[in-house]
Formats: sequence, C-alpha cells, structure tokens
Amino acid sequence: MNEQEAINLLKEEKAPDTLLRHSITVSEVSLILAFALKENGYEIDLELVKVGGLLHDIGRTRMHTVHHGYVGGKLLREMGIDERIVRIAERHVGGGLSKEDAEKINLPEGVYMPETLEEKVVCFADKIVGMDRVIPLEETLDKFRKELGDESDAVQRLIELKGELAKLLGRDPEDEVKKNFFV
Ligand SMILES: [Fe+2]
Repeated sequence: MNEQEAINLLKEEKAPDTLLRHSITVSEVSLILAFALKENGYEIDLELVKVGGLLHDIGRTRMHTVHHGYVGGKLLREMGIDERIVRIAERHVGGGLSKEDAEKINLPEGVYMPETLEEKVVCFADKIVGMDRVIPLEETLDKFRKELGDESDAVQRLIELKGELAKLLGRDPEDEVKKNFFV
C-alpha cells in the first residue's frame, strides 16, 4: 500500500474532505517526527508512517466514538491490508487505551496501546493536529481533562508519550514539528 493507494482507499470509503485533510496533515507531521528519529539513528519505516498516518482514522468513515480506532483496524484487516498499518489505526486513540479502558468500552481483547515507534509517532502526531493544522499538545490535553477529568490516565499517557519521543529525539517533538511544518 503506498501513499496514493491509501488516499484512493479513503476516497472509496467516502471519507469527507475534512477527514482527508486531517489524515494528510497527520501523515505529514508523523513523517517529520519519523525522519528526525531516523536521523538520530532509530530504525523506523518512513513509508509505513506515511501510509499509517493517512489511514489511522479510516474508522471515522463509520463512526466518531472512541471505538473508531478498533473499527478502522477491523476494516483494514478485512481488506487484507498490512497488519502493521492495521495496528497503527487500532492503537492511535487517545494516548492508547489500557486493558481496563478497552474493557470498559467493550472492545475485544487485544492491544490498544501504541508499541512500535511507527505506532507511537502516528498516535502522537494525531494529538498535535487539530482539524488540519498543528496545535499545541496542551490543547488536546485540556480537551481530555474536560471530557475525562483531571486525573484521567489518558492525559498521563499522552504526557508520557511526549516524554518518550522527546528523549529519543533529544528535543521537544512539538518544536521539531513547528520547525519543519509549513502550511
Ligand atoms: Fe482518530
């Protein structure tokens, strides 16, 4: 699956323009982070990040609840799409969903936390992209705090994810994106 095929697939699934623009922006932001990680010597598949970024929200062609990650993954899996892309979609919601979170919303048993670098990069990029523009992570955290409460694990997990990427990059991932992203 390449970039053009991913965009075609979104269109075939009747993704509205807003979703297409969001997906393209997340893909670009993911790629900036992935490229910086690669430059730092980490093994990361840039093509996978690009395509995973494009398809992470394909589940939103079906629904907008917290289940859209799982639903998107299922859709991609049924199409026979590369399992590494499937997992990017399945594991991108929030800062990932813990086993308890997944149980609470009745998802089948599985892993819903981003584990690979590619999965982490797309998950994080999605949290610093609003509709189709780069926003501070703080804006997303505020939204989560309002929706889920100050003590929510989701907030903590996102802060940890940012910290982890910052450690690997040796700098703030948000700065890295701001420096390289031009609208
Ligand atoms: Fe999403």
